[in-house]
Amino acid sequence: MAPIRFESEGVVDPAPLAQPLPFEFSGCTAKNRFLKGAMSERLATWDGKDLPKRGIPTPELLNVYRRWGEGGYGVILTSNTMLAYDQLEGAGNLIIPRDATFEGERFEKFQELASLAKAQGSLIACQLSHPGRQVPAHIQPNPISASDVQLLKSDTSMAFAKPRPMTQDDINSVVDGFAHAAEFCYRAGFDGIQLHGAHGYLLAQFLAPRTNQRTDSYGGSLTNRARIIFEIASAIRSRINDPRFIVGIKVNSVEFQDSGFTPTDCASLCSQLEAHGFDFVELSGGTYEKLAFCHTQESTKRREAFFLDFAEMIAPHLSKTRAYLTGGFRTTGAMVNALKTVPGIGIGRPACHEFDFAKKILEGTIQGAIKELDESQASLSTMLGGTQIKLVGHNKEPLDMSSDENKAIFMKSVQKWLEIQKNNADGSAYGFPDIVGVELQPYGTPYVS
Ligand SMILES: Cc1cc2nc3c(=O)[nH]c(=O)nc-3n(C[C@H](O)[C@H](O)[C@H](O)COP(=O)(O)O)c2cc1C
Repeated sequence: MAPIRFESEGVVDPAPLAQPLPFEFSGCTAKNRFLKGAMSERLATWDGKDLPKRGIPTPELLNVYRRWGEGGYGVILTSNTMLAYDQLEGAGNLIIPRDATFEGERFEKFQELASLAKAQGSLIACQLSHPGRQVPAHIQPNPISASDVQLLKSDTSMAFAKPRPMTQDDINSVVDGFAHAAEFCYRAGFDGIQLHGAHGYLLAQFLAPRTNQRTDSYGGSLTNRARIIFEIASAIRSRINDPRFIVGIKVNSVEFQDSGFTPTDCASLCSQLEAHGFDFVELSGGTYEKLAFCHTQESTKRREAFFLDFAEMIAPHLSKTRAYLTGGFRTTGAMVNALKTVPGIGIGRPACHEFDFAKKILEGTIQGAIKELDESQASLSTMLGGTQIKLVGHNKEPLDMSSDENKAIFMKSVQKWLEIQKNNADGSAYGFPDIVGVELQPYGTPYVS
């Protein structure tokens, strides 16, 4: 049976999405308007105790990028790639630690990843991130952040320790970590990097007054709260003397939190990003306190994109930096419509259920994404995305989640995974759930040869 899909209102010509998108500062051109959003696969090597064995691309992860490389996206972003072995979003993250050299296994596997993703003409950019306070406590019991504001209640099932405010030395070291990782990517053949300044990770913690209560030159005004971002950008530029290397960023358009980062802040930040030569800014929203991977406003449901109202306020502040809007796009009609506001469209979950989603939309063979779980179950639907990626990594196809039978199998798989997590004191069972009945790497098998 063919999967059940979202449908555009009438058949919509996808041609506007096929238009190339030139980047003003680097001079690079994306072959079309699609950006495959960063999605944590948690498929890199992991070892509970031996830290340098963490974060190297595995054969499964390379499969995933080969498939996305064949998927027709103008730009492909990697998952959030971390800068230290123990400052992670989750076990199995890609890692470019500060002592990584530009040779050896880690470097060669990143080279391979970049070349597979680029093989059909997509641009590949590595998303670089530091979790700050959003690092699971079992991975990092002593996190750092802009200030000592602990994440006590979250939309996730994870626990987070109280962070300590970063010293100037900490800030210098994180800035250098981002710049080193960017140089590593440049030398490994990536077209660029994206700083992760959204979803409540470290750079977003600096941007939001809720988590940044500093009284020094990194706190207070927006210029101060954004200072670390511009220090990173200039450190990258001084290491990579090649204007063709793309520097972009993902930021929140809104956080839905008291003293959170606001659309007005975002609009001012965008003007500053353009003044500093950022090639693109991807607009998203939410933090772990309030995940925003589903509709929070009735008004946007018909237009699909979660943050379109905010993008309309922000995009006019950009003339050279290209804006991508990510979150909620499911039909050709909504995507083409959004191009009136932003030049590019970011795709997350539909690219997990169908790796060649962009290609099929552009060819006109489909007009909408496959229906999956109810998106108001944001955390579950994110987990499902990870499971689908894992299946592809193991040379299986994603499950058709418009089928009730497959939904039931997934829910059973999640139950099993949750039970395993309960007895996972040493953290050896990691990554997203395996599908019960499908033969994959068993839980907890470290991807270390
Ligand atoms: C499995 C999964 C992992 C994700 N990991 C990241 C990440 O590493 N970095 C990031 O910026 N966003 C991450 N996201 C968020 C997506 O990039 C995107 O913003 C979100 O899914 C909304 O878009 P969508 O409605 O098209 O899925 C992740 C989403 C999923 C489903």
